[in-house]
Amino acid sequence: MAQMLSTQPYKGTRDFYPADMKLRNWFFGRIRRALELAAFEEYNGPMLESLDIYIAKSGEEIANEQTYNFTDRGGRRLAVRPEMTPTVARLVAAKMGELNFPLKWFSIPNLYRYERPQRGRLREHWQVNVDIFGCDTYEADLEIISTAVSLMRAFEADESMFRVHINNRRFFNDVIAAIAGTDAEGSRKVSKVVDRRNKVTREAYEKDMAELGVDADKLARIDALYSMSVEEATALCPESRGSQELLELFRALRELGLDKYCVFDFGIIRGLDYYTGTVFEVFDEAPENNRAMFGGGRYDNLVGLFVKNANISGVGFGFGDVTLENFLVTHKLIPDIYASGTKVLVTRFDDVPYARYTALVAEMRENGIESSMYIGQKKFGKQIDYAIRNNYSHIVVMGGSELASGTLKVKNLKTREETEMPIEALVSFLLA
Ligand code: HAM
Repeated sequence: MAQMLSTQPYKGTRDFYPADMKLRNWFFGRIRRALELAAFEEYNGPMLESLDIYIAKSGEEIANEQTYNFTDRGGRRLAVRPEMTPTVARLVAAKMGELNFPLKWFSIPNLYRYERPQRGRLREHWQVNVDIFGCDTYEADLEIISTAVSLMRAFEADESMFRVHINNRRFFNDVIAAIAGTDAEGSRKVSKVVDRRNKVTREAYEKDMAELGVDADKLARIDALYSMSVEEATALCPESRGSQELLELFRALRELGLDKYCVFDFGIIRGLDYYTGTVFEVFDEAPENNRAMFGGGRYDNLVGLFVKNANISGVGFGFGDVTLENFLVTHKLIPDIYASGTKVLVTRFDDVPYARYTALVAEMRENGIESSMYIGQKKFGKQIDYAIRNNYSHIVVMGGSELASGTLKVKNLKTREETEMPIEALVSFLLA
C-alpha cells in the first residue's frame, strides 16, 4: 500500500478547527472594536514582499535567518512577510502626498518566521500591528503605549497581570557612550550583547562585552542600570535627547495614571534595527509565559527607504496571538464564548414537506436568529445529539401531528424546558 500522507500541519504552524477559530475571532474581535473605538483604521498588504525590504532595515537575524524566501519564476527574490512594519512603511511611502497625517492605522496579518518552535513562539503567528505615522512628538509614543494598555484592559487584565517595559534607543546609545566611550557603531554592538544577555551565560556575556572594550569596571556600571529608576538612569547623561524623551514620556504616563502598568527597563533593546527612540515590550507577569507579548517603538526613517528625504516618522507595536492566548488562559480571562446567544436547530421528520422547514429557517434568519435545519435523515435522538454537540441552544420540533394543528415545540437545551406554541409565534418567542 502506498504510504499515507501526514495529517500534521507543517512544524510550528497550527490548524484552526472551528472551536479554535471561534476563540481567535473572539479575541481579535475585541481588539478590533477597541482599536476602531480609538479611531484606528484597518489596512492590509500582500503576504509576499521583496526580500530587500527586510535586508535593508529589519536586521540580520530576521532577514538572513528567519525569513522564508525564494526566487520566483521571473528571478525576483521574495520573502513571505516575517513582520508587517516594512510593508506598512511602503504603503505610506507610496501615497505620501495624498495621505492625511497623522495616520492611525492597524492590521492583523499572519506572519512567518523560521524559528525554533517553543512556548510563545511558532513559525506562523497572527500579529496585531498598531502604528501612528507623521507625529514626531512624545504624544504619539504616549498614544501608542496607552493603546497597548487599553487592549490589555479590553480583556479585563489588571496591573498585577502584565507590565510595559520601556527604554529609549537614543538614551541607550548615549549612556553607553558616556560609560564605555564607544562611538555609534560600538554602542550598536553593545546593544546586541545586551539584547542577547538573557539567552547566554554570564561568562559569554562578559566575554562579548570585553571584546568590545567594556572592562569589568565599565560592565559593573552598565549592570547597575538594569535596576535603576528612569530618574537615576537618565541622570547619567542628562543632556541626551533620549533622556529628555524618556522623562517626558514617564511624566505623561504618570499624569494619565498609566504609570502603574509601566516600568523603565534598560534591558529592552528590541532585535529590529529600525528603532530610533522609544522602545518597549509588554510582558506577562506569570513566570511560565516568559516571552514578550508585544514589541514596538519609534522608527524615524523607515519610510525613507522608499522615498528620498521622506522624513515621516512612525511609532507602533506588534502583538501576537500565541502569547495572547497563553496570557488569557493563564489568567483565566476567557469567558464561555458559547454561553450567550441563541442558535436554533430545526429537527426534521419524514412526514413534513422539506419546504416547511426551509421556510421556518428563512424566517428566523430574516429576524437575525442563528439557525439551521438538520441536514440529512437521521433518527430524532441522533438529531438531538448533533444539536448538543454543536452548541445549539434550542431545537424546534415540528412533526406531522404538530403541523396538522398549526403548532410546534421549542426545547431549550440548557434548561430542558419545552414550550408548545402556534407556528407564527416562533420568532417572537425566540427574540423575547
Ligand atoms: P516583534 O517584537 O518581532 O516586533 O514581534 C512583536 C510580537 O509579535 C511579539 O512580542 C510576539 O507577541 C509576537 N511574535 C513575534 N514573533 C513570534 C513568533 N515566532 N511566534 C509567535 N509570536 C511572535 C515586530 O514584529 C515589529 N514589526 C512590531 C512593530 C510594529 N513595531 C512597530 N510597529
